[in-house]
Formats: sequence, C-alpha cells, structure tokens
Amino acid sequence: MGKMLAAVLVEPKRFELQRVEIPSVGRDEVLIRVTRTGVCGTDVHIFNGHYAADRLPLVPGHEFCGTVAVIGQDVRHLTEGQAVVADINIGCGTCYWCRRNEVLNCPTMTQIGIGRDGAFAEYVVVPARLAIPVPEGMPAELQVLVEPVACVVRAARKARVGFGQSAVVLGAGPIGNLHVQMLRLCGAAPIIVADLNRDRCRMALEAGADAAVSDPSQVKADVLARTGGRGADLVIESVGSPRLYALAFELIRKGGHVAFFGITGPAETVPVDILRTVLEENSLKGSVAGMGEDMHDALTLLAHGRFHTGAFTGATYALDEIQTAFDTLGERPSDLKTQIRIA
Ligand SMILES: NC(=O)c1ccc[n+]([C@@H]2O[C@H](COP(=O)([O-])OP(=O)(O)OC[C@H]3O[C@@H](n4cnc5c(N)ncnc54)[C@H](O)[C@@H]3O)[C@@H](O)[C@H]2O)c1
Ligand SMILES: [Zn+2]
Ligand SMILES: [Zn+2]
Repeated sequence: MGKMLAAVLVEPKRFELQRVEIPSVGRDEVLIRVTRTGVCGTDVHIFNGHYAADRLPLVPGHEFCGTVAVIGQDVRHLTEGQAVVADINIGCGTCYWCRRNEVLNCPTMTQIGIGRDGAFAEYVVVPARLAIPVPEGMPAELQVLVEPVACVVRAARKARVGFGQSAVVLGAGPIGNLHVQMLRLCGAAPIIVADLNRDRCRMALEAGADAAVSDPSQVKADVLARTGGRGADLVIESVGSPRLYALAFELIRKGGHVAFFGITGPAETVPVDILRTVLEENSLKGSVAGMGEDMHDALTLLAHGRFHTGAFTGATYALDEIQTAFDTLGERPSDLKTQIRIA
C-alpha cells in the first residue's frame, strides 16, 4: 500500500514522526484519509503516561474526520471520497453487551486511537460499519467534535435530563462546557456551573449556564439559593475528583440524581449515605464515551448548528507540530480544543 506519515508516541511525552506502512484493509473495513484530528483529555493522559502506557508505541488520535480512501471487498454502503467520521468503539457485535448498546462492556472491546493505532496519522483503518457519512458542506473543524459531543449526548440520555430540571455541572473544561450546552438543549433550568478557573466560568456563561461559581466555598449556598433551598435535580461531575463526587451528593435535592462522568484514578471511592439514598430515593449512574445512536445524534446536532463551537476551533497545528501542540496545551485555557490538521 505504500507509506504514510504517523505521529507515534514512542514513550510518555515523546512523539516521533515516522514513515510507516499504510494499514492494510480487511474485507469489512475501510481506510480513511484523515483530514483533521482533535486532541482529547484522554490523549493527554496517554501522552503523560497515565493511561494505556502498556500500549506504547501507539499512534493516538480518536476524534477524527476524513474521506474514504480504500473500501474493503464486502463493503457496499460507502463510496470512495465520501466524508466520514467514525464511532471508535469496536465491540464484537454479538455478545450480550453489544446487543444492548453497552459496547464498552464487551469482553473484547477495543478503541481506535487508544487500544490500537488511531488518527494522528495520514490514514486510519476502521470497521466499515462504524464509519458514519457526514452531511455535505459540514466543516472539518465541526466534524471532529462529533465524538466529544457524543459523550455528553450519552450522559444526558443516561441521566434522563428533561425540561425544567435544575442541573449542576462540576467542572467547566471542554467537556463541562459541552454538558452545559447539552443541558440547555434538553431544556434544563437553571444550569449552574462550578469551576476554579474564572475564564472557564465566563465561557460556561457564554455557553448558556445561568450561573457560574469560581469560589468552591460558595457552590453549595449558590445551588440551594437557585433551587428553592432544595438542591438540584441533577449534578454532573465533570472533573474526575473524588472530593467533587462527594460534593455532588450534597448538592442534589431529595430524589435527585448524580451523574458519574469525570474519570478518576482506578479504585477511587466515594462514601454514599445509604439510609439517605434509600429514604430519599436518590440515584446515580455512570456513563462513558459515546457510541451508536450517540454519535448519530451528536452529528445531527452539530450539523444543525446547535452547539456554540467558536472556542473549540481556534487552536490548530500541523501534524509535524504535534509535539509542540501537546507540550503547550495547558497554556491556552480559552482554547477548549486543540486540533491537528492532517490533509
Ligand atoms: N465519561 C465520559 O464519557 C467522559 C468522556 C470524556 C471525558 N471524560 C472525563 O470528564 C472530565 C472532564 O473532561 P475535560 O476534558 O473537560 O477535563 P479538563 O481537565 O480539561 O477540565 C476540567 C475542568 O475542571 C476544573 N476543575 C479542576 N478542579 C476543580 C475543582 N476542584 N472544582 C471545580 N472545578 C475544577 C478545571 O479548572 C477545568 O476547567 C475528565 O475527568 C475526563 O477524563 C469523561
Ligand atoms: Zn475523546
Ligand atoms: Zn461484544
């Protein structure tokens, strides 16, 4: 097939730009010529050696878009040159969990750009059934947001967000910002955000939050004041801090729901008041990634301009600048997303 340029993470914190073989295409697979790939928090964990370290050397990159370059023999529904994004979660398709759209629990599940080579490269190969055609004319910088938006679509679905529900988002990073926008689309009100960073609070307000609190000592008082003294219907933890998970339980109303979303280290725990949970009929539920219908819904919402994406499209780098892009990530709090231009 020839060679391609790929950013290989050879060890934590060090990318090497290598010329490697273009991956071969199986009968039911498709080769995608990558146009653009977003940098996700998970990539940062991989870069720092905190996640998937046993898989290095690896080509990360799972928030990508591109065009169909080579189509496997058995694939009928795609055409060469077609613009696509992809669901990165590869399940077996036949087990108990796959059939329930809980692909992440599939015993053989792997993810493109995390468990196997991804899209910080000129080409990436994916199972054809996971490639999703995008509407004509949709800009690449929006297409790469489908995957992160799918994560908040899934979270909203799992939390059964409805109109008129009060919601708190702990953490206004890129994903917290998308939670705010998703809650707004679902009709939640009021939406209250907490983040230590004032820039992020301001951006959450711009994204549609009704209030944003940067002083941690004020969060509980603010939530109570804005919810008739009851507490919120829903709290989403979007930082990954056990302390904030504990706070989330203090912020829900009787009968409220805590959405477990932020990713902590392994084996972290949070105390749950058993009697209170029983008597108040409180609930909690985890949600992870976005797949299947979440990807399709995210694509539809983005294609129809339902998300404010200005803060997600400003910082772009060429593939050969990827090391600099990662080395300087923390220096740009007002850029919610860094994107790598590839084709
Ligand atoms: N479950 C899923 O499907 C899924 C998907 C994507 C990301 N995540 C996780 O969601 C979390 C958020 O992702 P992100 O990319 O926005 O993360 P991020 O680290 O870029 O942003 C986190 C934000 O939290 C703020 N913060 C940190 N400590 C705080 C505190 N004590 N109180 C208030 N705010 C605080 C920071 O200022 C920052 O703005 C991460 O844990 C990420 O791993 C989960
Ligand atoms: Zn991601
Ligand atoms: Zn399966």
